[in-house]
Amino acid sequence: MKHVLITGAAGFIGFHLAKALKKRGDHVIGIDNFNDYYDPLLKRARAKELEKQGIALLEGDITDANFLYELIAHHQISHLIHLAAQAGVRYSLENPQAYVKANIEGFLNVLETCRQFPGLQLVYASSSSVYGLNQKIPFSIEDRTDHQASLYGVTKKANELMASTYYHLYRVPITGLRFFTVYGPWGRPDMAYFQFTKSILEGKPIHIFNHGKMRRDFTYIDDIVQGIKSSIDREGKNEIFNLGNHQPVDLLKMVEIIEETVGKKAEKIFVPMQPGDVLETYADIQASQQILGFLPKTTLEDGIPQFVKWYLNYCSTKIA
Ligand SMILES: NC(=O)c1ccc[n+]([C@@H]2O[C@H](COP(=O)([O-])OP(=O)(O)OC[C@H]3O[C@@H](n4cnc5c(N)ncnc54)[C@H](O)[C@@H]3O)[C@@H](O)[C@H]2O)c1
Repeated sequence: MKHVLITGAAGFIGFHLAKALKKRGDHVIGIDNFNDYYDPLLKRARAKELEKQGIALLEGDITDANFLYELIAHHQISHLIHLAAQAGVRYSLENPQAYVKANIEGFLNVLETCRQFPGLQLVYASSSSVYGLNQKIPFSIEDRTDHQASLYGVTKKANELMASTYYHLYRVPITGLRFFTVYGPWGRPDMAYFQFTKSILEGKPIHIFNHGKMRRDFTYIDDIVQGIKSSIDREGKNEIFNLGNHQPVDLLKMVEIIEETVGKKAEKIFVPMQPGDVLETYADIQASQQILGFLPKTTLEDGIPQFVKWYLNYCSTKIA
């Protein structure tokens, strides 16, 4: 049985991962600082769901070294899954300091803590944002990643370099995962699919950036969780894997699927490209398939209705 600590467990991906690991028999605890980047009530609602399943979620910050150390020592943690971060591309233009605090200072703290527990396995979240202005598609692990388009991408690239250095210096067993636009039930309210669904249902207009000329490799949460689970089950060797659907979809196609699911047309306002955004993301997952057995199988046509079903139910409980 693995003893797993998940940072950012009240977040979207952490919540789903915690449930899945508990289900397969791992001992799981989580931490989160429940910050208000998006509605903390949603994070509290996720925490409540986890508690119902016997998963303890402690309130604390990854920049607190003593807190992390005590937790790992006390619970004899064998695997640390580090998902806590300041996420979001656009917000990194407004509040860059939040990214340095959580993603650089916080990550350094995580690495320093791991150093003190030889053998503790670390799996951490990177992002497709590290590819930044990369023109070559699909995005492969071998591609250059030295021209990010946002500070968010920079902090995620910095995490990869820091992780690699700690592996080199101290042999911390590490695996990095580059997630591609993850979506699904209990998702993040700052993401386009969530905001579009909410606005269409409320009869409000939606803003379509770059006049719709954008493509994203939308990846369903269950597929991502499967990829993380496989990463946890192997010894960390400082490898990095793409976890993406390998099927980029036009932004307007995504809107169409939401419209069909909710049975309502969107009022679209076409606007220019936002600073920090990229035109396309597209994961090359050959290595992830071969080494992790990563096989994403959920299309956007199947995944969006799952999200909408959850969203309607969540709103009806009036927690939203
Ligand atoms: N969702 C995606 O599409 C996506 C894509 C690429 C990478 N990622 C990365 O995956 C990870 C999880 O993303 P998510 O979508 O679940 O985001 P999320 O914002 O829902 O979850 C992150 C959680 O971390 C917590 N947190 C932030 N700073 C913290 C701190 N200093 N101490 C303790 N907790 C803190 C937040 O409160 C939040 O609950 C993040 O590292 C993110 O950058 C996500």
